[in-house]
Amino acid sequence: MSEKKQQVSRRQFLNYTLTGVGGFMAASMLAPMVRFAIDPVLKASAGGDMQAVADVSEITTEPQRFEWTVEQVDAWYTSDVTHSAWVYKNENDEIVPLSPVCKHLGCQVNWAGNEDYPDQFYCPCHDGRYLKDGTNVPNTPPDAPLDLFEYEVKDGTLYLGQPVPREEV
Ligand code: FES
Repeated sequence: MSEKKQQVSRRQFLNYTLTGVGGFMAASMLAPMVRFAIDPVLKASAGGDMQAVADVSEITTEPQRFEWTVEQVDAWYTSDVTHSAWVYKNENDEIVPLSPVCKHLGCQVNWAGNEDYPDQFYCPCHDGRYLKDGTNVPNTPPDAPLDLFEYEVKDGTLYLGQPVPREEV
């Protein structure tokens, strides 16, 4: 009699099986959603990352474009993203690392990009211009100076952090 009580009926077996499979499927679907929702919390902040960009001995008084690549992870997709900066040494031998992103609508500026203004940064999108220190030229489309990267020099290598906006001129 007691043996009979311990047997699992067909109905109970189906209930247990369906509950188990259903729970497993629900967990499989919910886990990525929860991971996606809290992903920024789990990630270390990229704000403090400094990237090795150039050997300081390569930096001259003429702005040069330096590029570096960082691995970017978006959810499950990983890609290499290339960043760049215009870097030179000013008259006080200080390093000036400028963002190449135009403050008008975000095109890339080039040093001496217009032969009429050989000592300025030039944005080809709407004729935006900046002086060598990144200050926007009045009466051209940009309304703010080029951003300046945070930087540090370690063992002869230039490291750049995030570009920091400056006061409008
Ligand atoms: S985006 Fe540079 S001038 Fe417009």
